[in-house]
Amino acid sequence: MRKKIVAGNWKMNKTLDEALALTSEIAGMVKDEVRSDTTIVLCTPFPYLVPVLRVLGDGSRIAVGAQNCSQHEWGAYTGETSALMLASLKAQYVIIGHSERRQYFGEDGKLLAAKVDIALRSGLTPIFCCGEPLEVREKGGHQDLVGEQVEASLYHLDEAQIKKVVIAYEPVWAIGTGKTATSAQAQEMHAFIRSQLAAKYGQATASDITILYGGSVNASNARELFSSPDVDGGLVGGASLKSREFVEIIKACSTPASP
Ligand code: PGA
Repeated sequence: MRKKIVAGNWKMNKTLDEALALTSEIAGMVKDEVRSDTTIVLCTPFPYLVPVLRVLGDGSRIAVGAQNCSQHEWGAYTGETSALMLASLKAQYVIIGHSERRQYFGEDGKLLAAKVDIALRSGLTPIFCCGEPLEVREKGGHQDLVGEQVEASLYHLDEAQIKKVVIAYEPVWAIGTGKTATSAQAQEMHAFIRSQLAAKYGQATASDITILYGGSVNASNARELFSSPDVDGGLVGGASLKSREFVEIIKACSTPASP
């Protein structure tokens, strides 16, 4: 059975004090209010990983992730952070191939394949992002592009490895824009991604892979988005910076949609 996951992507936001306050608030509310087994992940800036882990404490049900890692294991790569370092801190997840990395830092499918490999080899769960820009959707090319992104960075993995990857479908036009995909659009793309995975790895393996939706998820639209059968949770940017909003999104992932 695939996991349901709600992951917050803090991006490059918050001072240390603000980040720690946000962490304690989320941890407190989750403890008091969240009864389900939804996996919760906070993807913080690198410098906050250790302090956030300390605030959460041993045995917390909230996991911590990074937002990027190097494609190299170790060595003379000034300014880079290795997946092995992240694993040694007890981070469990790493976002790979976010559209902002693809767009502003020129990360392409081949580089991202190497990052996925090193993350898996280091024992981290990659949250691999894919998604189309608006002009591609308007021309009807979204399935082709997302299919190519998944193929370029994931299809070299074997069955055991692909099952350890979380995929996040994030249409670029919905990220940080307040425009969300409709639940029908999200379901269509998630079902498409799963059918591609099934063609490559078989239905049983495809059914085990968690596929998250990302792009302006908030407390008001989360329940509707998460009610689709192939949407297994969310990768949440802006709304993960507000404790109450983020916890409501976690709760929306955890309870069945109202009829
Ligand atoms: P958003 O960001 O929720 O602010 O749209 C999502 C993401 O970039 O992962």
